[in-house]
Amino acid sequence: MQKFNQIFGEGKHPIRTFFAPGRVNLIGDHIDYNGGMVLPAAIHLGISAQVRERDDQIIRMRSNISEKRIEIDLTKAVEYNESAGWGNYPMGVIRLLQMTKMPIKGVDILFDSTLPVGSGLSSSAAIEVLTGYVLMTLAGYEVDRVAMALLCQKAENEFVGVNCGIMDQFAVAMGKAQHAIQLNCQTLDYQHIPFNIEGFKIVIMNSNKERELAASAYNERRASCEKALALIREKHDVPNLCEAEFPMIMECVKDPVLLSRARHVWWENQYVHEAIEALQDGDWQTLGESMDASHLSLTNDYEVSCDELDFLVDAARSVTGCVGARMTGAGFGGCVVALVHEEAINDFAEYVKKQYHKSTNLDTDIYVCEIVNGVEER
Ligand code: GLA
Repeated sequence: MQKFNQIFGEGKHPIRTFFAPGRVNLIGDHIDYNGGMVLPAAIHLGISAQVRERDDQIIRMRSNISEKRIEIDLTKAVEYNESAGWGNYPMGVIRLLQMTKMPIKGVDILFDSTLPVGSGLSSSAAIEVLTGYVLMTLAGYEVDRVAMALLCQKAENEFVGVNCGIMDQFAVAMGKAQHAIQLNCQTLDYQHIPFNIEGFKIVIMNSNKERELAASAYNERRASCEKALALIREKHDVPNLCEAEFPMIMECVKDPVLLSRARHVWWENQYVHEAIEALQDGDWQTLGESMDASHLSLTNDYEVSCDELDFLVDAARSVTGCVGARMTGAGFGGCVVALVHEEAINDFAEYVKKQYHKSTNLDTDIYVCEIVNGVEER
């Protein structure tokens, strides 16, 4: 509260606290925008917001990750502003709320993040969903979480210009403690699946590799999938790339790059189905194998991994007690997720850290993951 008052000055309204988690995707990457099935979970690393209403139409925002203070006048249309940096994510959501005529109020917000920025754990979705949730709650509305996730995705697509799918915003909004989310990205049907595989934990390793050109490479991958789908649709009636049959892909997609992108999409979707069944059966071996196979597909066919991520996966897999590992999220740097037996975790962390530093000169941060609820007031 003291820090809040230092930054924003005293105010008469109470300070409230909200939290939005980041997410890890256990399996199913680059298929949300192809209508596939994904299996993310909301994690204990996230962003909290201390919030105090104002009596005017001004929104002021600060974050612990930068000195920059963002100030918005709600009587004018919010516009994208390169120099606002991270502020454009919440600003995009505010813009969309303005367009929907949501009666949002002026507010001071202090964000505090434990999510490593740009690490592929959805810091952008977390700040978007958090902002939307805070503003709607303060305006007196009960938030429809799925509608909020869709609004935030639209903000990221149209305001920030990243053509992301729905997975991240959905996981941040709809997470449930100790459960993974099985999400059909075509229909948005979902199911929470208990994550209790006797003795196994989800471990995240941050490569701390600077992600270069990630947004443009991401949009380019997505465009390739759209091209492959258009070719298939010249002959077959399919709703999305994940539902195209493998022989259709072979028949219609001749360009080798497009073919390998489509091949990843098809296989990845199969691996997710395998993994979901394995998770429900407590079958760690099959779950681990699906994760390994997914990583190879992301590396070889989708080409979104990098040396650092591959190195972390290999180092992780060489430790007894780790039964599966893969990059998670968009790739081009970011994090690896592994399934590790709890008794092996200390040795695992020590070994992976040492080996990673030795071969890359970078340090990895290792998190033993707790699965938490989606965005909430605390
Ligand atoms: C990013 C996007 C998601 C999804 C993943 C890859 O996190 O925001 O929509 O496409 O990459 O699975």
